[in-house]
Amino acid sequence: MSTEKVALGKRLFFETRLSSTGHYACASCHQPALAFTDGRDRAVGATGAFTRRGAMSLANVAYNPAFTWANTKVSSLESQMREPLFNDHPVEMGLTAGGAAAVDELSRDQTYRAQFSAAFPNDAAPLSMDHIIKAIAAFERTLISGRSPFDRYVFDDDREAMSAQAKRGMALFYSARVGCVQCHSGLTFSGPILYEGHTTDTALFANTGLYDVDGHGAYPPSDRGLFEITHHAADMGKFRVPTLRNVALTGPYMHDGTLASLDAVLDHYTRGGHKSPRQDSRVRAFELSAEERAELLAFLDSLTDREFVSNPEFRP
Ligand code: HEC
Ligand code: HEC
Repeated sequence: MSTEKVALGKRLFFETRLSSTGHYACASCHQPALAFTDGRDRAVGATGAFTRRGAMSLANVAYNPAFTWANTKVSSLESQMREPLFNDHPVEMGLTAGGAAAVDELSRDQTYRAQFSAAFPNDAAPLSMDHIIKAIAAFERTLISGRSPFDRYVFDDDREAMSAQAKRGMALFYSARVGCVQCHSGLTFSGPILYEGHTTDTALFANTGLYDVDGHGAYPPSDRGLFEITHHAADMGKFRVPTLRNVALTGPYMHDGTLASLDAVLDHYTRGGHKSPRQDSRVRAFELSAEERAELLAFLDSLTDREFVSNPEFRP
């Protein structure tokens, strides 16, 4: 990571010339104001084709032990990036032939040539697809969200940062009865993370009982989660526990955006999902009074980091 690499990566993150149509960028689906999501149930690519999943928040992705909604094998930001850049079914950014045309196009831009040379000094051919990917990954690693009211309350001891209602919601979130923290734990509220000196944890995947199409816990054939990668029956419907940071801004919810609001998410959990045989035992029905529901929603809202979503460092 260097200042030059991050600045170049930021420019490339918003660069529409990195798409087959010349009108699409990473930021088309990962918008800063929405904590780097797109407000859609499922993401739409450069040519208008729907992908089958929702765009994920990029807040704190530097700490992820695994990437995307349901894959144990995508273990770096660099390898993840090949999907949106080169996928052709469905098209996301739609680059072909390893992005040769885009590299060519950017090579004609004098400021890019200077920026690549500064970011990759000592390199005979600084402007390459490999370096485009490395620079964008460097930018992504700066997307740290940790200034929400929750953070100020917990880490800065700012007693006023959270309302009394949100504090009661926090107690519910961490309680044995409601039990969200059993999966949404740690600094990112997504379970185990990687950080300096702590680099071996694996990501947490769970079936939350969102679907049971056959009475045996099957998910729809359009998306069966981790099962598609491992082909183990036990992985049917398992998705990676997503971050809850900035969650008030990242709807609609779940991997396919089928839950329109946080209220709908709480309906899903209080019902205990579909109570399917493949469901994680930590997702089970519980009672929530109207007052407690409002408290839990206030807590989720306290995870919104206004500094993060309005940070000029993350804007073009
Ligand atoms: C068409 C919309 C679209 C575009 C364009 C797009 N993404 Fe995504 N992004 C998604 C979707 C959808 C997912 C979830 C994919 C999955 O689970 O299969 C995702 C997931 C990710 C993740 C994984 C996050 C996590 O927590 O695991 C990262 C990182 C990411 N995208 C970065 C990028 C970068 C960098 C670019 C530009 C090179 C980009 N995306 C372009 C839609 C898009
Ligand atoms: C067994 C582990 C587990 C428990 C317990 C759990 N979750 Fe989740 N949560 C997940 C997984 C996995 C997903 C993604 C599921 C999917 O997309 O199909 C998810 C998704 C979500 C989402 C959607 C996030 C997004 O970006 O779309 C919200 C909000 C959420 N959970 C809140 C909660 C709350 C509140 C509780 C407590 C009432 C809770 N969760 C309990 C595992 C869990």
